[in-house]
Amino acid sequence: MTKSGLVKRMPWTLLLVAAMTLAPARTSLATTTADGAAAAEVERLTSDILSLDGDPAYGEYLGGECVTCHQRSGASDGIPPITGLSVDYAVRALVEYKLGIRGNEVMKLMTARLDEEEIAALAAYFAGLEP
Ligand code: HEC
Repeated sequence: MTKSGLVKRMPWTLLLVAAMTLAPARTSLATTTADGAAAAEVERLTSDILSLDGDPAYGEYLGGECVTCHQRSGASDGIPPITGLSVDYAVRALVEYKLGIRGNEVMKLMTARLDEEEIAALAAYFAGLEP
């Protein structure tokens, strides 16, 4: 290769190196942004729901389905008990399942169709049960 040939090729080589260096950086930036957006959405939805006055009687009605797995007695048989959880904790957990931040498939399904009022009601009901 002549000297001028090498110089001509240089910009392409540099471009390639630059592209290879920037590509992973751009990917991780996108991931960070997505994580940040998801975290912000958890905060927004959680505080929206916490501002509602959850109705425990409605929660009891809706919770009939939940207690087929989570025991009303607070006993645990591989499925975590949810009686006596703080409203704060329960709402955040349900929002995290709903938004797919927590990965459990069953709970993702259970929470997908719950609206804000229903989550507030369920959290209020289970918080009031003896753990
Ligand atoms: C088919 C069984 C099943 C049903 C029905 C079910 N859950 Fe769950 N739930 C689970 C399992 C299993 C976990 C643990 C998942 C994990 O590892 O994240 C869980 C986790 C939870 C947690 C998090 C507990 C913690 O300590 O972090 C909450 C809160 C919860 N469920 C509430 C509910 C509510 C409210 C309902 C009804 C709308 C419900 N679940 C219905 C099986 C179920």
